[in-house]
Amino acid sequence: MPRLELAALFEYSSSEGCHLCLEWSEMTKLLYGKPVADQVLNQVRARILSFVGQHYRPPRLTVVLVGEDPASIIYTRRKRDVALSLGMEQETMTLPANASPTLVQETIQSLNENPHIDGILIQRPLPKGFSEEDVLQWIDPAKDVDAFHPVHAGRLFLGLPAFRPCTPAGIMMLLDHYGINPAGRVATIVGRSSIVGKPMASLLLNANATVIQCHRQTKNLAQHTREAQILIVAAGHAGLIDESHVRQGSTVIDVGIHRTADGKIVGDVARDRIEGLVQYISPVPGGVGPMTIAFLMKNTMDAAELRMTQLSGS
Ligand code: GUN
Repeated sequence: MPRLELAALFEYSSSEGCHLCLEWSEMTKLLYGKPVADQVLNQVRARILSFVGQHYRPPRLTVVLVGEDPASIIYTRRKRDVALSLGMEQETMTLPANASPTLVQETIQSLNENPHIDGILIQRPLPKGFSEEDVLQWIDPAKDVDAFHPVHAGRLFLGLPAFRPCTPAGIMMLLDHYGINPAGRVATIVGRSSIVGKPMASLLLNANATVIQCHRQTKNLAQHTREAQILIVAAGHAGLIDESHVRQGSTVIDVGIHRTADGKIVGDVARDRIEGLVQYISPVPGGVGPMTIAFLMKNTMDAAELRMTQLSGS
């Protein structure tokens, strides 16, 4: 819808009541993650039953939490609750914020060597003084359910089978579930982190999208985001994307999550300013978040099955 018409609609709906307002807000569909995540979790639940039948134990995920970052404590609790609800075994190892890199490395090494542990996750961010790039290389790739190890990153880059990082893989499934095929479309990614932006580019490229990657030093961001038929925003900047950044009829995936001063949870996209302009948007909360955790469970299940297959030599 042209911008002028949208503005007129705003004025009309505010002065004339809400019948047009309803029509306007119905034009943008929300991409809810929960129903898709539930499908993934139900499949994992069924696989756990058959794994236990074969190996007489459930898959086991160990989360390592260094320090007491409040958001990380909440995230790790959520991971634990979902894992336990599926019938996985899960424990969180907590190390003090002043733990030395050597202690963390030795801890990870002992988890690597423990035959009863299938998946290891080092919760980020790590306290100051740690190089996250170093730490993620300490995990055995076979147990790296975050899929941040260079082995997985490299294989993904080359389009080879690999564990896939949970958030980007979850976004690909969300797109697929809602019938949004990236092939031949322009996909712009805002952000180039190793967790989301870079693997997202590989996944979209492997799915035959034409990929534009933007970052902090990109000049004229809106010019590139307005190209996007699929816009993925993982900038870590609340409300960065507004009506000046989106293409009419596009799909917008919001990876950001922030708490405002008045306690509201918001994303990197000012959703209220683009509703009516775009065709699809993932809500925050309730869009990408549930997919990330579901993929963590799926990766843990994959790791457990692969390890047992390799151990049995079959
Ligand atoms: N911190 C925030 N999200 C994540 C994640 O997906 N994995 C890890 N390891 N840490 C995080």
